[in-house]
Amino acid sequence: MTALPSVHRGRNPQKRSPIHKALLAGAAGVVATLTVVAMIPNANAAASTLGAAAAQSGRYFGTAIAASRLGDSTYSTIAAREFNMITAENEMKPDATQPNRGQFNFSSGDQIYNWATQRGLKVRGHTLAWHAQQPGWMQSLSGSNLRQAMIDHINGVMGHYRGKLAAWDVVNEAFNEDGSRRSSNLQGTGNDWIEVAFRTARAADPGVKLCYNDYNIENWSYGKTQGVYRMIQDFKSRGVPIDCVGLQTHFTGGSSLPGNFQTTLSSFAALGVDVALTEVDVTNASTSQYSGLTQACLNVPRCIGITVWGVRDSDSWRSSESPLLFNSGGGAKAAYTSVLNALNSATPTPSQSATASPSVPSSPAPSSSPPPSSGVGRLVGAQSGRCIDVPNASQNNGTRVQLYDCNTQANQQWTYTSSKQLTVYGNKCLDAAGSGNGSEIQIYSCNGQTNQQWNLNSNGTITGVQSGRCLDVWSTANGARVQIYDCNGQANQRFSLTS
Ligand code: G3I
Repeated sequence: MTALPSVHRGRNPQKRSPIHKALLAGAAGVVATLTVVAMIPNANAAASTLGAAAAQSGRYFGTAIAASRLGDSTYSTIAAREFNMITAENEMKPDATQPNRGQFNFSSGDQIYNWATQRGLKVRGHTLAWHAQQPGWMQSLSGSNLRQAMIDHINGVMGHYRGKLAAWDVVNEAFNEDGSRRSSNLQGTGNDWIEVAFRTARAADPGVKLCYNDYNIENWSYGKTQGVYRMIQDFKSRGVPIDCVGLQTHFTGGSSLPGNFQTTLSSFAALGVDVALTEVDVTNASTSQYSGLTQACLNVPRCIGITVWGVRDSDSWRSSESPLLFNSGGGAKAAYTSVLNALNSATPTPSQSATASPSVPSSPAPSSSPPPSSGVGRLVGAQSGRCIDVPNASQNNGTRVQLYDCNTQANQQWTYTSSKQLTVYGNKCLDAAGSGNGSEIQIYSCNGQTNQQWNLNSNGTITGVQSGRCLDVWSTANGARVQIYDCNGQANQRFSLTS
């Protein structure tokens, strides 16, 4: 995941064949004309939930969820209303997912995954390689046998969730407080176990973001923080695949928000990884610490989101410290308000500023008319006035679609079917090659799967049924690639099906 706005990612426009250029030139007279009006920035409108407030700056706000509590309607109602990223508190850990060697069990993990995605919430995977919560059979392994078991576990679990999650905590809590490696059975397999875990993970699911996750790495001058920093620096310098660092941010049990927290976040980010606060809780839910940690994240562009470690105080692993944003009765605490206010006062993301710029053509505000349930036409970008186009009229599976000047050719004619497919040439479907931010949008033989199903929404966005993310373009130019990205309400994510 990257916090950088998709609209700012520069790439070279794709080259087009002379034949296609000629076709386009001939069709220039029928290019759709869109009414262009100035867009009024809406960055300061106050959102009323944590997830919506965080989304204003392109971030998420999440919570840990326990499958056993989903039947509690107070719990599930708050969770679905307030949060847009979900972490399984225990259900995707090794003891839950592979209780016996070679026998995987995803029932509880899937229960959380399905609950979340049915509500349009995204899911972080937690966790694959960890000294704790190993199944009994794994605890007794060592050496090459354990190394192979770790690799098999990563492949088995990531294979099950391939293409479905926003991120995985690949390795959890592998360092001592002084910055040395924690002594564990995994460490005993060789110092390279962490990079082997990450390389295995990248191959198992190339589309998901791979994170290292730990606690007590919030204070920049602390030994453990420096130890983890050096490892990430080393991985980036040697090309070991790693995308993000999760700072658990447990300010409980005697820990508190350090004054240099933002320095820590920006220092990790400067290595070329995203950062996220992954398990936040604060003793007695101090409002100043909650607002301070939120503000620190908001001040760092690559801090992509915040997750609290439970919904109500009674759901917390440290419930005696009342460390969460909702009290045990489900009421929002003062800390909730302090976080919400901080999120609502965030500076708009660069993409929002850019979209509002007078130099960028924009569109009228989203209409409230009902979206079509079927139809045929061109998919015209609200920001660009250009159409979603299959380059060179290719019919090959895997051809990435792009924006291009609208024409009347078959490579821009899309049919929205009653089964939510967007078909072109009759038998090819608009297809998401993954579900993460930045996943490519291509054409592929229609197969009935959810990565080929799209919702045309009344606000003009087109969301993937599998990912919940919006069709998105990173520029208005001919050749701009189409991808999926977290929905942000901006014109570069709005399209109309125009006959
Ligand atoms: O479900 C069983 C229950 O059937 C049994 O009767 C009971 C007896 O003790 O145990 C229950 O399981 C407990 C489980 O939580 C679910 O409540 C485990 O004993 C208990 O060890 C487990 O604790 C979890 C802890 O990780 C284990 O390391 C906490 O819920 C969970 O919040 C905590 O989460 C960790 C993150 O994964 C990593 N970072 C630190 C964080 C807090 O410790």
